[in-house]
Amino acid sequence: MSEIKLEDIVSLCKRRGFIYPGSDVYGGLSGTWDYGPLGVALKKNIMNLWWKMFVDDAENMYGVDAAILMNQKVWQASGHVDTFTDPLVECSNCHARHRADKLDDPNKCPTCGKEGTFGEPRQFNMMFETHAGPAVEMGFQDLVDYIETAQQKFDKQGLESLNPEEYLSFLKSAIGYFENLQETKVYLRPETAQGIFTNFKNVVDSFYPDMPFGIAQTGKAFRNEISPRDFIFRSREFEQMEIEYFVHPDQWEKAFEAWVKRVHKWCDALGLPAESVHELEVPESDRAHYSKRTIDFEFDFPIGREELLGLAYRTDFDLKNIERVSGKKMEYRPKDGGEPFVPHVIEPSFGVERALMAVLTAAYKEDEQNGEKRIYLKLPADLAPVKVAVLPLVKNKPELVAKAREVYAMLKKEIGNVMWVDTGNIGKNYRKMDEIGVPYCVTIDFDTLEGDTKDTVTVRHRDTTAQQRILISEVGEMMKKDGSI
Ligand code: GAP
Repeated sequence: MSEIKLEDIVSLCKRRGFIYPGSDVYGGLSGTWDYGPLGVALKKNIMNLWWKMFVDDAENMYGVDAAILMNQKVWQASGHVDTFTDPLVECSNCHARHRADKLDDPNKCPTCGKEGTFGEPRQFNMMFETHAGPAVEMGFQDLVDYIETAQQKFDKQGLESLNPEEYLSFLKSAIGYFENLQETKVYLRPETAQGIFTNFKNVVDSFYPDMPFGIAQTGKAFRNEISPRDFIFRSREFEQMEIEYFVHPDQWEKAFEAWVKRVHKWCDALGLPAESVHELEVPESDRAHYSKRTIDFEFDFPIGREELLGLAYRTDFDLKNIERVSGKKMEYRPKDGGEPFVPHVIEPSFGVERALMAVLTAAYKEDEQNGEKRIYLKLPADLAPVKVAVLPLVKNKPELVAKAREVYAMLKKEIGNVMWVDTGNIGKNYRKMDEIGVPYCVTIDFDTLEGDTKDTVTVRHRDTTAQQRILISEVGEMMKKDGSI
């Protein structure tokens, strides 16, 4: 387990504009989080790094961005409608609901502390359901009113009091209502993967890639989690970065091993210490319904060792299901004229929020500077949401502020994500920048304006707090060298 406390990370994220509780102003909505200016930048940097590493810099990788709303048949064929469930227990004392497999003590309600108040777990489906278009001709309230009127008549006079036509029309409306609800049903996707499988044939027809090849997608996923918890670790709305890697069935083991190595490289690129990343071979009983082999990559989060991402061998489960339900062939025709086959799939599935939480955990540092406690985020330079801060030493000297503005404009053009900081004293500002992980602070002082030191600035390094004096024109170069830009 990490030494860092989750509360410290949550507090820093809220204080400094990374992550806020969702709908906070209205008292919140459980399992949702909003990203502030720094959070969205950090998240984008993580996602861009992922895309660069696994799509742009890789061979034979194709990106897609499928619609979140998909035909309900997708989720029937994939097995999610029937089997995407978690075990739910309800406390008979306080009526709190919990995920049975995540309870520290299966006999004790963590909400009210009573023992023996849970019955048998029942399977709870995590799909979010909604309806596309007007769901019924008759409004829902109309139907409720209709049923109530029929019920009142029945209560007063008995069933025979309803004349057959009235009774039949009631039945028809009710059946129509439920049929219509069935037809218009759509699900919010619980994984991005199905948008890849449904586009497998499109990509093959458009590009005829060599085998093996991968299709990648990033985007939102939604799960009606029984008990969202631990900050952004388990939420109801989150983002995934997924790849379906299509291979010849004989080649799956080799491809799986290659992906294990790639996943470790990714963890390394996020700045996660190798000793905090662990492989868990998931036993058959705990594997998802589609998987023949799964390795969970776990990380030492502040909440303990938990799943960061998953690597699964999904066989031809999904493509075969699409064939079965759509009646369309999902075969790949080898370029050497060999027998067509339905490819098997290796799926590395990355959660953005968990990557972000791991990055924050690994980066969160405390030390002492000049006898005072300091908190800083030792983020890898390419992930830092702000690359450099520009600070005029004082605010009330127009020529100094003008020079600082010039430096700011120059760096902004060159680097992009530059912050202007002119409130508070310089020491406090350095601390603030440390807390949000800005690798460099560039201070413009009186020496910048004249003498031998004209056009030089003080560059202060986040991790060591060391300061150096360099020419303004060298700042961008220095940052390019260390990969910040
Ligand atoms: N397509 C395979 C799939 O979705 P998963 O293990 O259910 O597999 C993959 O999810 C990853 O998505 C997880 O390893 C985790 O990083 C992330 N994830 C899943 N559920 C999540 C939730 N409720 N909140 C945040 N991230 C979640």
